[in-house]
Amino acid sequence: MDQAGLPTKPAGSATESAGFTKLNGQIIPDDDKENFNSILMPQKKMKKQKPNKQTTSLLTEIFNTAADGMCLIDKDFNIFAINTTLARMFNLDKEDTIGKKCYEVLPGSSCKTDRCCLVRILNGEKRVEFETEKIHNDSSRSSCIVSATPFFGPDGELVGIVEDLKDISRLKEVETKLQRSFKKLRNALEGTIDAMSLVIEMRDPYTAGHQKRVTDLAVAIARELDFSADKIEGIRMAGLIHDIGKISVPAEILAKPGSINEKEFALIMDHPQVGYDILKAIEFPWPVAQIVRQHHERMDGSGYPQGLRGEDILLEARILAVADVVESIATYRPYRPALGLKKALKEISEQKNVLYDAQVVDACLKLYSENRFKFDDWKGAQPSHQTDKKIM
Ligand SMILES: [Fe+2]
Repeated sequence: MDQAGLPTKPAGSATESAGFTKLNGQIIPDDDKENFNSILMPQKKMKKQKPNKQTTSLLTEIFNTAADGMCLIDKDFNIFAINTTLARMFNLDKEDTIGKKCYEVLPGSSCKTDRCCLVRILNGEKRVEFETEKIHNDSSRSSCIVSATPFFGPDGELVGIVEDLKDISRLKEVETKLQRSFKKLRNALEGTIDAMSLVIEMRDPYTAGHQKRVTDLAVAIARELDFSADKIEGIRMAGLIHDIGKISVPAEILAKPGSINEKEFALIMDHPQVGYDILKAIEFPWPVAQIVRQHHERMDGSGYPQGLRGEDILLEARILAVADVVESIATYRPYRPALGLKKALKEISEQKNVLYDAQVVDACLKLYSENRFKFDDWKGAQPSHQTDKKIM
């Protein structure tokens, strides 16, 4: 007996046993060898042979027990075979279905359109696959992946198609739930960021609106630079809390109307690093903590806290830096009136490639020259970006 429990043949015929043969690793009855050969042989040879009853019943069994719904459709849209799975999926009577038009039995959003798989196969496509909706008898709908391949007759002529339907409704439901859950989490994250932003601004009324306006400009620049929606979201998050580190600076220094001394200035200069320390443990989908730490870095290495240069600074941080400077110069400071937009744009133009990234500056100037951006809440804005205060 061999491993499969089949009687083995005498020596000299290691791969054969009484009435059975091992063919390509499968044990098959001798009287069906020809047909198994025909299944395994190339299609050309297969056409010459007709399956016997045993093979037909095996193929029927495979057809009916396939995990996917399957049916055979002729060139005139008539169903001429349908498997048990498909009948169960759509509550169909198998016998009753034979001979009926596929678009009547299995109507769907692709029927009678140029997406129809039979039409596409008749037009020469070798394999068709797409996602569609199929409508049940009770008008409910199922999302399905439909794939179809040509079905040839014994003489090699195109008879119709084999259509395979995979019901993905459950997957779709799970996907929808995941998307909802993702949206809720994203909303919670945004709410948290807004709350953090508010806390900073409540403590330092001079920054009220500053982070929001810087964010608006930074996002507009990022769009101008063709950033992806996801990357823009990262800039938005970082922008809204880019001055969070000012929480460590005494409020009286932030609101001080006159000049500040060196010690006070050093405290203010710490705010990007403090911001980083606050945010570094949060696993944002974007490098928010790094962007916040780098928003006062300058292209020539003259910035702080790390003195990074050029492309060592994240592009998001280079964008935020330009937006921050424009907003800060253009608006009111506790120690000086607003210097205006003209002066702000002059600063970034003159320092382009020195302090500020050239492409970011160009994008910003373009937005203004084409009147495609202006700060909301511009009138009466009293933001404070204290780091450009004169040291006493
Ligand atoms: Fe800042």
